[in-house]
Amino acid sequence: MAPPIFKVVVALGCILLITISLLSSVLAQSNAYIIHMDLSAMPKAFSDHHNWYLTTVSSISDTSKTTFTPNSKHIYTYASSVHGFSAILTSSELEKLKKSPGYISSTRDRPLKVLTTHTSQFLGLSSVSGAWPATNYGEDVIIGLVDTGIWPESESFSDEGMTVIPSRWKGKCASGTRFNSSLCNKKLIGAHFYNKGLLANNPKLKISVNSPRDTSGHGTHTASIAAGNYVKGASYFGYASGTASGMAPRARIAMYKAIWTYGVYESDVLAAIDQAIQDGVDILSLSLAFALDDIFLEDDSMAIATFAAMEKGIFVAASAGNDGSLYWTVVNGAPWLLTVGAGTVDREFEGIFTLGDGNQINFTTLYPGNSSLIQRPLVFLDGCESVHKMKKFKNNIIVCKDNLSISDQVEKAESAKVSGAVFVTNISLSEYYTRSSFPAAFIGLQAGQKVVEYIQKRNNPKGSLQFRKTIIGTKAAPKVGGYSSRGPFPSCQHVLKPDILAPGSLVLASWSPISSVAQVQSHPLFSKFNLLSGTSMAAPHVAGVAALIKKAHPDWSPAAIRSALMTTANPLDNTHNPIKDVANFNLAATPLDIGAGHMDPNKSLDPGLIYDATAEDYIKLLCAMNYTKKQIQIITRSTQNCLNKSLDLNYPSFIAYSGSDGKFVHEFRRTLTNVGEAISSYTAKVTPMNGIKVNVEPEKLIFNKEHEKLSFKLTLEGPKLLEDVVVHGSLSWMHDGGKYVVRSPIVATSLVPESP
Ligand SMILES: *[C@@H]1O[C@H](CO)[C@@H](O)[C@H](O)[C@H]1NC(C)=O
Ligand SMILES: *[C@@H]1O[C@H](CO)[C@@H](O)[C@H](O)[C@H]1NC(C)=O
Ligand SMILES: *[C@@H]1O[C@H](CO)[C@@H](O)[C@H](O)[C@H]1NC(C)=O
Ligand SMILES: *[C@@H]1O[C@H](CO)[C@@H](O)[C@H](O)[C@H]1NC(C)=O
Ligand SMILES: *[C@@H]1O[C@H](CO)[C@@H](O)[C@H](O)[C@H]1NC(C)=O
Ligand SMILES: *[C@@H]1O[C@H](CO)[C@@H](O)[C@H](O)[C@H]1NC(C)=O
Ligand SMILES: *[C@@H]1O[C@H](CO)[C@@H](O)[C@H](O)[C@H]1NC(C)=O
Ligand SMILES: *[C@@H]1O[C@H](CO)[C@@H](O)[C@H](O)[C@H]1NC(C)=O
Repeated sequence: MAPPIFKVVVALGCILLITISLLSSVLAQSNAYIIHMDLSAMPKAFSDHHNWYLTTVSSISDTSKTTFTPNSKHIYTYASSVHGFSAILTSSELEKLKKSPGYISSTRDRPLKVLTTHTSQFLGLSSVSGAWPATNYGEDVIIGLVDTGIWPESESFSDEGMTVIPSRWKGKCASGTRFNSSLCNKKLIGAHFYNKGLLANNPKLKISVNSPRDTSGHGTHTASIAAGNYVKGASYFGYASGTASGMAPRARIAMYKAIWTYGVYESDVLAAIDQAIQDGVDILSLSLAFALDDIFLEDDSMAIATFAAMEKGIFVAASAGNDGSLYWTVVNGAPWLLTVGAGTVDREFEGIFTLGDGNQINFTTLYPGNSSLIQRPLVFLDGCESVHKMKKFKNNIIVCKDNLSISDQVEKAESAKVSGAVFVTNISLSEYYTRSSFPAAFIGLQAGQKVVEYIQKRNNPKGSLQFRKTIIGTKAAPKVGGYSSRGPFPSCQHVLKPDILAPGSLVLASWSPISSVAQVQSHPLFSKFNLLSGTSMAAPHVAGVAALIKKAHPDWSPAAIRSALMTTANPLDNTHNPIKDVANFNLAATPLDIGAGHMDPNKSLDPGLIYDATAEDYIKLLCAMNYTKKQIQIITRSTQNCLNKSLDLNYPSFIAYSGSDGKFVHEFRRTLTNVGEAISSYTAKVTPMNGIKVNVEPEKLIFNKEHEKLSFKLTLEGPKLLEDVVVHGSLSWMHDGGKYVVRSPIVATSLVPESP
């Protein structure tokens, strides 16, 4: 009864464990490493860095020079994402390498994790607003994804309506198993695959589909969310039916496959981002992260590679992680990228349970089987722990009352092969249950009481179960997914993370038709579309909208695009609307859950004012975080003297921690750039923060021309002890003509900053 996506995640976890043990037995002597080098130390004799790295590897080799070929040790040379290479080295080779000219540092090649789903913690069932404009925006903007590959035949990647590929594009489509460049078109303009690192770490592994082709479905899903073309008649077995399209249906897609069902390694991901930067993507969408917690930014390849992307003007949207809902769980929180949490929207997938007396009860479900209007005898069994031993209920719908062992009862009911089962429970419904593989309904205690009374009163109680209804406009949306990871980000606490929420729960998008999406009575089912949940689904939504902004404002920096998305986001969160069970989620949502709020594509195209930032600003932040020269060089690929330091990044949000004395005084300085009406004025409006005095100076900003920059100071002052661990409010610059609201979340917290 486990839903397939759950299995995919579990399977991936198992394989990763296996690969790690292979690594230690087979390669007792050698390990794969990522090596950072100082390019300025390259001897003049070398024409390029690649030859220098190969020569370096060869010079430190334990193997006798006659049998040695550098290719047996060297994995990748990186040119854009980091300065350095990856290689398989013994410990004595590594020691020699450390003494070689230009060596900066090295780390073991480590596995990353894919951020698809976290079904067991899932709360609520609804999805994409679908209200986003079907515009022609996004045309010619190129979105690169590092993912599981792509199913090129999917209708989402049809190039109907697309113009010729811009000449600035340097990417191409690689050939491999069941894949060649003839499968690319004006929509899918690049496709590569990277598994040399995976193979270096697992020498015995045989990869069956060795190409950019997506055998899992995840990459096809994320790519179609970001920039899929229109597909009429899309649905998941009748659920969510309608026309599917990506956020930027006219943007182009380049897929860099580095995630394999066998695992995903840092060395391959770096190679993928390296190529994407060189090919000339405008936007990167990343739905994977380090499995390690609390690492320094210079240990986080995703942070390092995306710094290089940011310097090239590439906007990066990355998933916040699915380890909510505790503090400090967010991943991909580097200040130069946009960290995306997952929210739900106003759609539910339902079935109807009809009693013989005509009364109906709606329930959430994703059961993919066919509906039956046939009325069956209804039997009330109380607990259903022993039903599998009874043959007599085969043609009945059984009603089971949950007594804290629901998974057990569901399993027993399924093996009893009953016509259907109705579970009366007050456990919060998880996607795991609603994706049942036999006709099952989960209903609340009140409705359950009605059903039990009906059964007990009638001589011949009957009922029927119908599936595949989609209800739009459910009230509890939008709200943050319980699984969405929460801030602060341990490796960079002075920047508030996550940044924003986008739809991530039960998102319908294209799928690999060879990857099973569900089971009915243990038969696998296949579909061209799948409904998935996770911050993996949220990041490509933002990547698509960023493409729209990039199209409207080609000269905007990644920070400007981020600012536009954040300051126009909708901070409304209905997590606490009591229409659903919110058993393990009852604290009011704060910016540590939702960032600036749910993105609003329409408004983000015209934000009025932006908080811009350059690479130098991020370097000043790293300097103020007391990063060493070497650490900063690993991240930025350049040597910095840190003459200027500032923790006060020009960021569209604010976070302050109580000082070591417990007192609360914090000053922020920010600069706004006018991108709205040339002559315009704005007035500061702050929402009160419990126990904290918020002051803005000046309170009015008067702009006289486009692109003019004006600065202000925000001060927070509070008592020794905060009443709540997290106190939050906001600063909004209100356009005096009423056209713009430029809003930033503010957090003051007594959480104790952790050092990674
Ligand atoms: C490219 O792949 C397609 C689909 O698999 C195949 O029909 C075609 O013959 C291939 N072309 C070449 C040149 O290999
Ligand atoms: C149950 O579903 C039906 C059909 O989709 C709908 O008309 C009805 O309003 C729903 N009832 C409730 C109580 O939500
Ligand atoms: C549902 O019915 C259709 C048409 O009768 C059939 O093609 C399909 O296989 C059925 N699906 C399942 C899951 O039984
Ligand atoms: C649930 O009820 C069954 C009988 O229907 C009983 O055997 C079982 O121990 C009960 N479980 C709990 C946790 O109360
Ligand atoms: C329903 O929830 C309440 C409170 O969470 C709990 O005390 C009660 O035991 C639950 N009832 C069942 C039948 O699970
Ligand atoms: C976005 O703008 C379009 C076109 O102006 C409009 O049709 C649509 O309703 C707007 N959507 C939202 C959510 O405001
Ligand atoms: C950096 O070091 C200085 C001097 O030791 C110290 O005052 C400051 O608090 C440190 N900053 C951070 C962010 O740790
Ligand atoms: C440091 O910052 C000041 C003021 O922002 C600027 O004038 C100066 O050029 C900066 N120095 C360096 C080395 O970046």
